[in-house]
Amino acid sequence: MNRDGQKRESELIKLISAEKLPRHVAIIMDGNGRWARKQGLPRIAGHREGMNTLKEIITCANELGINVVTLYAFSTENWKRPSWEVEFLMRLPEEYLKTELQPLIEKNIVIRAMGDLEQLPAVTKRAIKNALQATKDNTGMILNFALNYGGRNEILNAVKKIAERVQEGALKPEEISEDLFTRYLYTGDLPDPDLLIRPSGELRISNFLLWQLAYTELWFTRTLWPDFNKEHFLKAILDYQERERRFGGINKI
Ligand code: FPP
Repeated sequence: MNRDGQKRESELIKLISAEKLPRHVAIIMDGNGRWARKQGLPRIAGHREGMNTLKEIITCANELGINVVTLYAFSTENWKRPSWEVEFLMRLPEEYLKTELQPLIEKNIVIRAMGDLEQLPAVTKRAIKNALQATKDNTGMILNFALNYGGRNEILNAVKKIAERVQEGALKPEEISEDLFTRYLYTGDLPDPDLLIRPSGELRISNFLLWQLAYTELWFTRTLWPDFNKEHFLKAILDYQERERRFGGINKI
């Protein structure tokens, strides 16, 4: 990065308030394919570049002191892509973790994964299992990968588990509260995201964290994920810090 870029980043960091940091940031890493097409490269080159962006943003989030980062890496709908692209995406966790696991361990980061993980190919499952095991005793930032994840699917799974408990007589329908329901989701022990970032100009949620995003602040940019950098991330955090969160209430006047 050039010196101007570094100067802009350090100026932005100075403006960030440590007391008002989002605890949980969710990111839809979108625009890899379009980035590749613009460069005249195959789509997979976009995913690989997107992986580099991921490294930069994780480092920044960790340095800032954010508690949880959840990344949409593969949705339940992404199976519709050509098989060569799906295969490539399924190998990315292994490729990423080959070089990144050790630095993540050293940064005390806890890796987690959520989604229908059983349906993933053996190579993906193996890489993830190894990373979960290797970081399970860490106590720092939680890095949560959504893989074969769909928000509706997650809600349905929670409903099924709760229905089973009711059928067994272990739970009464009137005991089903928002808090209880939340605990049956993959993110049951995590705070809801405070901030959702979606690059690439698309203005939608795409079946991501449907329940958890109820009061999340949304931040969109036209920048494609491979071009997204620390400066964009810092700007998103600053924008978030300037927002007034009312959670349906009103502020004192
Ligand atoms: C969406 O862009 C991106 C994905 C489906 C894959 C995201 C994966 C990475 C950024 C790599 C890192 C992942 C791991 C697990 C280490 P798109 O292909 O839909 O872009 P387009 O809308 O421009 O076609």
